[in-house]
Amino acid sequence: MTLILGIETSCDETAAAVVEDGQRILSNVVASQIDIHRRYGGVFPEVASRQHILSITPVIEETMDEAGVSWDDLKAVAVTYGPGLAGSLLVGVNAAKGIALGCGLPLLGINHIEAHIYANWLKARGEEPSIVFPVLCLVVSGGHTELILMSSHGQYQRLGGTLDDAAGEAFDKVGRLLGLDYPGGPAIEQAAQYGDPTAFDLPRAWLGDSYNFSFSGLKTAVLRIVKTFEAAWSDKGSSRVAREPASHLLPVVDLAASFQIAVVDVLVEKAKRAAKEYHAEQILLAGGVAANKLLRQEMAERSDLPVLCPPISLCTDNAAMVAGAAYFRYQAGYRSGWDLDVIPNLKLAG
Ligand code: KG4
Ligand code: ZN
Repeated sequence: MTLILGIETSCDETAAAVVEDGQRILSNVVASQIDIHRRYGGVFPEVASRQHILSITPVIEETMDEAGVSWDDLKAVAVTYGPGLAGSLLVGVNAAKGIALGCGLPLLGINHIEAHIYANWLKARGEEPSIVFPVLCLVVSGGHTELILMSSHGQYQRLGGTLDDAAGEAFDKVGRLLGLDYPGGPAIEQAAQYGDPTAFDLPRAWLGDSYNFSFSGLKTAVLRIVKTFEAAWSDKGSSRVAREPASHLLPVVDLAASFQIAVVDVLVEKAKRAAKEYHAEQILLAGGVAANKLLRQEMAERSDLPVLCPPISLCTDNAAMVAGAAYFRYQAGYRSGWDLDVIPNLKLAG
């Protein structure tokens, strides 16, 4: 039995978890900073790192308590060392080093994108996921949109990624344009339930045969529609600030639904085509946007291959996925040195 303590502080969640053999979650504590960053409409890096400093010790103590294990029971300490915000990553890496050094445990630096992928190995509600290589991974989060072919544990080939905004970033920016709550992803999903996805014919950037993505044109198209509604409202002679009263006219739910399907269409079709071309056995979804029910549903319906996705609560940032990924690396003999440093733009290499 291999118990690993995982630590995650790459963005705005302070998280720690204890996972057994890369699959069974003993504890998974996430202290979200969403309420703190809401007023800025996005993550404020300095505020995030300061909040991590305040939360990291209580979060780790809570996860150890909840798991009911002692430091002696652990085999390793794993921590996200990139990609992410430098100041945020530093808090997790230093905490992990302190614990590993103090307890005489090996330290494993983990790539955040790899961790998202390994959320698919975590046993949710008791059932064992059966993953057959090669798998095509679609990693869609606030910072990443990547198509990755995974041929075995730790072996990755990057097929493409976003040229501008990440999928989650596009959700967040469009959420803001529509005057929805932060973060935009869940808010757009909720609004879209009541909207007509065919109301607006928004652009899909197919970019030919490539496996790259671009969401900035889609975001601009939404912006243009919002501006048209604002202009129509001010033409009516409103003396108030245009943006606020215009929200009464703006068909927010239809725009949310039309935007959501435009993103999902491109993600699903490119993942399907890549899976076919590279003879993948399965498609794995990962990252915060994989929590989106339309994406999960459309991917499963439109693909002939089995589609796996983590339970919704494990799609967004957490440390169970870090401890999960670390188990497979630990088994393969991978260890980090005490000179492990944060790498904010770390890439996933095979
Ligand atoms: O993986 P994650 O927690 O953090 C990063 O590694 O970036 O992803 C957060 C992103 C945010 O952009 C958020 O808006 C998006 O995931 N997201 C969603 C949903 N839940 C979270 N996007 C669409 N639909 C959702 N239900
Ligand atoms: Zn993430």
